[in-house]
Amino acid sequence: MNTQRTIWPHPQKASAVQVIDQRFLPHQLVVMDLHTVAQVYEAIQKMVVRGAPLIGATAAYGVFFACQEAAQAPEPEAHFAQSLAHLRESRPTAVNLFWAIDQQVKNLENAVSWPEKATLAWQGAARIVEEDVAICRQIGLHGLPLLEKIAAQKPGAPVQVLTHCNAGRLGCIEWGTATAPLYLAHQNGLPLHVWVDETRPRNQGASLTAWELQQAGIPHTVIVDNTGGHLMQHRQVDICIVGTDRTTRTGDVANKIGTYLKALAAYDNQVPFYVALPSTTIDWQISEGLREIPIETRSADEVRYITGWDESTQALHTVRLTPPQSPALNYGFDVTPARLITGLITERGLCPASEAGLLQLYPEQALASVND
Ligand code: MRU
Repeated sequence: MNTQRTIWPHPQKASAVQVIDQRFLPHQLVVMDLHTVAQVYEAIQKMVVRGAPLIGATAAYGVFFACQEAAQAPEPEAHFAQSLAHLRESRPTAVNLFWAIDQQVKNLENAVSWPEKATLAWQGAARIVEEDVAICRQIGLHGLPLLEKIAAQKPGAPVQVLTHCNAGRLGCIEWGTATAPLYLAHQNGLPLHVWVDETRPRNQGASLTAWELQQAGIPHTVIVDNTGGHLMQHRQVDICIVGTDRTTRTGDVANKIGTYLKALAAYDNQVPFYVALPSTTIDWQISEGLREIPIETRSADEVRYITGWDESTQALHTVRLTPPQSPALNYGFDVTPARLITGLITERGLCPASEAGLLQLYPEQALASVND
């Protein structure tokens, strides 16, 4: 894909990376430099970068900065361990954060000096980035036939897709997960239309997915989060495709809050509900999504206030939506049980949302025992 990536080595400063500050999209394209562990923590926690694969890639560069900072510290090992523990606390739900840090730790195991560790960590982070690009493209190739099949059943009419949150390239490096089949279908000339859930409270659908689709020239319509059920009842949705932040080995899926309600509506209306995922978002250690996936609770102010583009001042503007004294509650994710999911689209192919389905594609995980 010929689009700007979401994270890249700083063109002028060695040992730094740049990211798109997603808090300003779709209104302004702001680039932020990251060159310390503290900055990486903040970027993930404050959602400068977000989306499971991008959180993982950014954390992987965080491990590189941790090596550099450890080298300057009086007690390097302790400093390094503290940095990694700090990064692990930035957000709880997307398993890619923990996966990427663990990958990097393994990658550094045999290095003897801090400069050597830093070099390996930089290379490891770059590898995670490149792998994500390749994985997402494969997800696209495996998801495409689903759209082609629907298109064949309604010649000339657009395939109506509903998606939630942003499981697009901004949540990854390129392509996205749920959007990868859409990009390929569009490139192949398949008529498409995407219903984009606005995704309150942070509006990743309205601000990020809509921006991406608009840039790619893919017809889309932003809808409020409660519209999907109505559209499905009226046969206006052919297929739902969403992303995931953590998937259990049994196929339960944690994704942005509200995903579960869309899956319920899809189930009730016999609309196929697919989850597109890189295997890096599978937590092979857990089996019961509802009990075992940690759900992030974010600031109530994200519900109480909203930020948007003020056309009169040509600047971003934040306003309060709720009565000043009303409390608010802000769960970031919910769990969609495997029984509501028609199938998983992975980089190795499609499978049922079940342990048997996943193990057929990832047989090497059969040996990894749960909770070891
Ligand atoms: O809170 P966010 O914006 O990080 O949540 C992102 C999502 O829920 C995405 O759908 C998910 O990470 C998949 S990204 C390819």
